Amino acid sequence: MASHCNPRYFLNPRLSLQLLALVASLTWHILVTESAALIQLRGEVGGNVTFHCPIANRELKFLYLQKGKIFVNGYYESKDTSHLAWKNTIMDHDKTTMHMYNLNVSHRGEYQCLFQYSGSSTTQKQVIHLSLTANYSKPALTVRYSDENHRSCLVTCASHCGYPGKTVMWNVPESQMWTLLNSSEMSDPKTMKVNSSSTAYFNCSNGETSISCSVGNVSSDMFSVCAPIDPPPVLRSPVIEAICAVVGSIVSVLLLWWRCKKGKRGAAAVTFRRVNGCEEEATVHNESNEGKEAS
Ligand SMILES: *[C@@H]1O[C@H](CO)[C@@H](O)[C@H](O)[C@H]1NC(C)=O
Ligand SMILES: *[C@@H]1O[C@H](CO)[C@@H](O)[C@H](O)[C@H]1NC(C)=O
Ligand SMILES: *[C@@H]1O[C@H](CO)[C@@H](O)[C@H](O)[C@H]1NC(C)=O
Ligand SMILES: *[C@@H]1O[C@H](CO)[C@@H](O)[C@H](O)[C@H]1NC(C)=O
Ligand SMILES: *[C@@H]1O[C@H](CO)[C@@H](O)[C@H](O)[C@H]1NC(C)=O
Repeated sequence: MASHCNPRYFLNPRLSLQLLALVASLTWHILVTESAALIQLRGEVGGNVTFHCPIANRELKFLYLQKGKIFVNGYYESKDTSHLAWKNTIMDHDKTTMHMYNLNVSHRGEYQCLFQYSGSSTTQKQVIHLSLTANYSKPALTVRYSDENHRSCLVTCASHCGYPGKTVMWNVPESQMWTLLNSSEMSDPKTMKVNSSSTAYFNCSNGETSISCSVGNVSSDMFSVCAPIDPPPVLRSPVIEAICAVVGSIVSVLLLWWRCKKGKRGAAAVTFRRVNGCEEEATVHNESNEGKEAS
């Protein structure tokens, strides 16, 4: 394949040798650069991380870690560098590994491990990238209804103290009519941690819906919006219940009294009828009644 593309190089042995040397040096260079780019460290805000410099088992003249041009930790032959070392770092006994504690957002970024073997004059460099995250708090949803009839509402989703900045994602069923009003990511100037929040408007004409929201990969609980309002609890007040009880007993007393009165009047009427209409019958009836009662 190569001979098809550039047959010329392989016709001239000197050129091809030069090419091989170039390729070899390029490959070597590329390999080093690639491996340097590949060291990716991940840490959590408040946590720890360990930097490993890739050292062969040879004596070192110096080894140190720097961030930009700032010394982090390390040593240079007999020179004492401990006073320069970051207070949140410790060099391991192996003298090639460094531990960094109590990470905060400002520790993120690119570091270089620089070292030189004894008897060598070339400095080797390993780039190490540190990325940091902080878990957002579980997002909380709050609702404000626009009116007593729950015709529409504003719902806010808020999550605190995460890193890096992440926008609120809403999880709302398709049937629900809603509009995203705003989203904000407020960064604390000191800790650089982010508070993320978002407010959405919901039209409640399609009734109750369950929604949730998430920030990063942390999700809120399911939350019900546009629930119909309960009928007013008129008969549930103890005062009203007491009044009802009093009115009820007065009414039943009156009813009883009225019935008694009506009963007496009815009895009188019967007597009257017995006397004036069907005396004999009434008398018979009376007798039989008395007879029954007697027996
Ligand atoms: C952050 O979240 C991850 C994944 O849920 C968890 O493993 C880790 O312990 C959390 N970190 C802290 C500091 O809570
Ligand atoms: C988003 O909109 C709501 C309703 O208009 C408002 O109360 C809230 O302050 C706004 N938030 C931001 C960060 O602008
Ligand atoms: C972020 O939220 C926390 C917790 O509610 C609060 O104490 C802090 O002041 C907020 N920071 C910003 C920048 O809004
Ligand atoms: C809700 O949507 C319905 C149908 O589109 C509309 O008629 C009604 O006015 C809206 N209500 C509110 C409070 O926006
Ligand atoms: C959430 O995301 C962070 C950063 O992207 C990751 O470290 C963590 O493991 C994730 N947690 C879960 C539960 O997936």
